[in-house]
Amino acid sequence: MFTIKNHLEVENNHLIIGGADITELANQYGTPLYVTNESRVVENFKAYRKAFPDADIYYAAKANGSFAILRMLARQGAGADVFSYGELYMALLAGIPREKLLFNGNSKTDYELQTAVELGVRVSVDSRDELHTLSEIVQKAGKEVEVAFRVNPDVSTKTHPKISTGLRTSKFGIPSEEVVSIYREASGLPGILPCGIHCHIGSQILDTAPFHEAAQKMMDLVEKVTTLGINLKFVDMGSGLGIPYKKDERAPTPKDHADAILPIFEERTKALGISPKLILEPGRYIVADTTILLTRVNTVKRAAKNFVGVDAGFNLLIRPAMYDSYHYAVVANKAASPPEDTYTIVGPICETGDILAHDRELPHIEKGDLIALLDAGAYGFSMSSQYNGRPRCAEVLVKDGVADVIRSAEDVGELMAKQKLPARLM
Ligand code: LLP
Repeated sequence: MFTIKNHLEVENNHLIIGGADITELANQYGTPLYVTNESRVVENFKAYRKAFPDADIYYAAKANGSFAILRMLARQGAGADVFSYGELYMALLAGIPREKLLFNGNSKTDYELQTAVELGVRVSVDSRDELHTLSEIVQKAGKEVEVAFRVNPDVSTKTHPKISTGLRTSKFGIPSEEVVSIYREASGLPGILPCGIHCHIGSQILDTAPFHEAAQKMMDLVEKVTTLGINLKFVDMGSGLGIPYKKDERAPTPKDHADAILPIFEERTKALGISPKLILEPGRYIVADTTILLTRVNTVKRAAKNFVGVDAGFNLLIRPAMYDSYHYAVVANKAASPPEDTYTIVGPICETGDILAHDRELPHIEKGDLIALLDAGAYGFSMSSQYNGRPRCAEVLVKDGVADVIRSAEDVGELMAKQKLPARLM
């Protein structure tokens, strides 16, 4: 037995996850299949909590909204960053207390705002316009709402432009120079209780400097807002910590993340004589490396490249097509065999961009082999679709060698589930 990456092991030439042989899971549950190692989710969550012992960890539910995962994290004491009514609903259902939720979003519907108000969930307000809508909603409901403002701190990160969220030109947040005036205005609005401040600068960040810069800019704003006489109960710094998708890539740890922001947070809050709660919103770090997407080879074609056609495509893992992202690929039934050739692993979707892995050195591949795409737990299933008439696959959760289905595979019935014919087409 040897370790291939983190918690993934190889035994008898087969890839093992959470004590379960991947080839047996494929035979039992079919492919494509998302497989998550339960213990790894808990380990990752604990690593974050250890690095930030006094902070609250609000898991970013968008990364992986599977109910079993939300439930596991609820049991660990996690809160959640929710970005829609659906995520709010699922988080509450999983047992995450409403006091540990923050309703985020740059374009919430009135219904979403009303629901947050009714349920007593705090809202991160993304614009002046939204502030006024929310004030009207709370007045009508005869309630009050605790709010944070999402700040755009104008911090540049070296991540993919599509997942950089704190640039001046990004759609998220309120420009820094307007922040003080919006808190001032909010304090005078009926029903609005400004009590937090929030930012999130991007995702898959592999260098701690932007976290440090954002923390400094946020604490400058905390100081100004405190001077207005507003008592900030929490400072939410978002997250964005990257993970090493490539085998030799280096990524900061939660401890490195903490070292980049905790000293500033502690020093500045002490100087101001305030004690707001620090909140972090990690998504990717908690779930990315816990999960593989297992897919079976339908066909191998030697053309301009050696194309390996598998049964999962960007319908199930859109990250490579959308962000040119890299997922380490292992031939799961030949996991210890030496590389023999260069292969490009492609999905069954009718799009040239449906490529899961480019030019990988892998053992000889033939029809029926199993390919495991690693680190697929964050923004994998949660971004899946039924494109090309493909029902979504199942998800299983493994622990100590035992697998449980946590989401059944859809069938073609699900393609029809919500569709109707007008009478003239009957
Ligand atoms: N908080 C807020 C407000 C966010 O918008 C996000 C992610 C997070 C927390 C969690 O960030 P994380 O720790 O996961 O980096 N689909 C893209 C990533 C989009 C991230 C969107 N926001 C991907 O597959 O790389």
